Amino acid sequence: MRLWGGRFEGGPSDALTRLSVSVQFDWRLAPYDLLASRAHARVLHRAGLLTQDELDRMLGALDDLDQACRNGEFRPTVADEDVHTALERGLLERLGTLGGKLRAGRSRNDQIATDLRLYLRDHVRTIVSRLVELETALIGQAEEHAETAAPGMTHLQHAQPVAFGHQLLAHAHALTRDVDRLRDWDRRAAVSPLGSGALAGSSLPLDPAAVAAELGFDSAAPNSMDAVADRDFAAEFLFCAALIGVHISRLGEELVLWASQEFRWIEVDDAYSTGSSIMPQKKNPDVAELARGKSGRLIGSLMSLLTTLKGLPLTYNRDLQEDKEPVFDAVDTLLLVLPAVSGMVSTMRVNKAKLETSAPDGFALATDLAELLVRQGVPFREAHEAVGHLVVWCQVNDKDLGELTDEELAKVSPYFASGPDGSVRDVLNVQGALAARAARGGTAPDRVRDQIAALRETVDDQ
Ligand code: ARG
Repeated sequence: MRLWGGRFEGGPSDALTRLSVSVQFDWRLAPYDLLASRAHARVLHRAGLLTQDELDRMLGALDDLDQACRNGEFRPTVADEDVHTALERGLLERLGTLGGKLRAGRSRNDQIATDLRLYLRDHVRTIVSRLVELETALIGQAEEHAETAAPGMTHLQHAQPVAFGHQLLAHAHALTRDVDRLRDWDRRAAVSPLGSGALAGSSLPLDPAAVAAELGFDSAAPNSMDAVADRDFAAEFLFCAALIGVHISRLGEELVLWASQEFRWIEVDDAYSTGSSIMPQKKNPDVAELARGKSGRLIGSLMSLLTTLKGLPLTYNRDLQEDKEPVFDAVDTLLLVLPAVSGMVSTMRVNKAKLETSAPDGFALATDLAELLVRQGVPFREAHEAVGHLVVWCQVNDKDLGELTDEELAKVSPYFASGPDGSVRDVLNVQGALAARAARGGTAPDRVRDQIAALRETVDDQ
């Protein structure tokens, strides 16, 4: 049963049918197509194109069909080209010829654009909840480790000590921006294409604004050609999804490093680890690796859709059928990955002792020493040079900065003789180095606790 047989003498070839069919992936839009159909039926009634009795029977049949789709009694067949074709068949089975009235004034072109927006707006709400869970897991761990000193790195080399909580919150901030982006996305996605018909609007007295309101959109599209051709909402969603993928991939990479024998910063809970089929001792951080790996397909989905859209003339072109699989795959991927990463983060055990003993390694307090000299009036350029010499001296003599005697310090540079503004040894302690970075954005435990409070508020609003 095709929606377009009238002007054709012969049927489609098997090859065309196989190429054309999309019901195997667009069937998941059925609940949204049925929602839009109910709104459209009401509008046809208000336009005087359905009697009250016809409307009641139409809505009853749509409810019944919805039920049958949900419990699996009604399924698409291989002969149904797409979700719209399958649902019209279901409606005709229930209503006979009355079922054929619903198609008046709408086209699959405005329908599919509407369905996909409804689907995405709905699923983005779930994705936001999953993001909030991951933020909450990171904040929970950060709360435990607001004061735990850890090696802070640039170029993956020890740079300056940081509070481990500060680092965990850095990931949480990225995710709050993702949530913010999705909320902002929703504002632009909340425009209803229904009423645009194939491309030019409808000669029937429809009411696109009423349909838009009934479907929870903020407004009806102001341009029917744009409405059926536009897939910005899908591309923009895929960008948001790809960036979330990048964020959890970077977090995943850190978790993999932290769980390694070389770092031993965390131990991953058994529930979020896998073993090896040959090496009995192995405990692998596969969740983090899959998070990292799956970011590739999220980025790929964005590229796929942008490539499809590039160069398409207005308005609807069948190429647009290729919009759905990347969108669905991105939704499925995020809903699969985010809960696993949240679980891994909330259950991981942090090796506080290891973090704290490694925090000053690699002469990580050298900057603190240089800044002490700056406070004593030494130009930073000279302070940098003097501390650099001290580091070399330590390397040659196999000592840490904290182990130097007064004589050794004075030998390298007179700057290091203890002065009235605080002695060299006072700044060579990790907790002091953290506490000293007390301005907004710094790693001082007090600032970490401020962030936790602010993030908790943000998360509550999200
Ligand atoms: N299945 C199509 C899609 O996913 C919608 C139908 C529009 N088809 C058409 N021939 N105008 O985009």
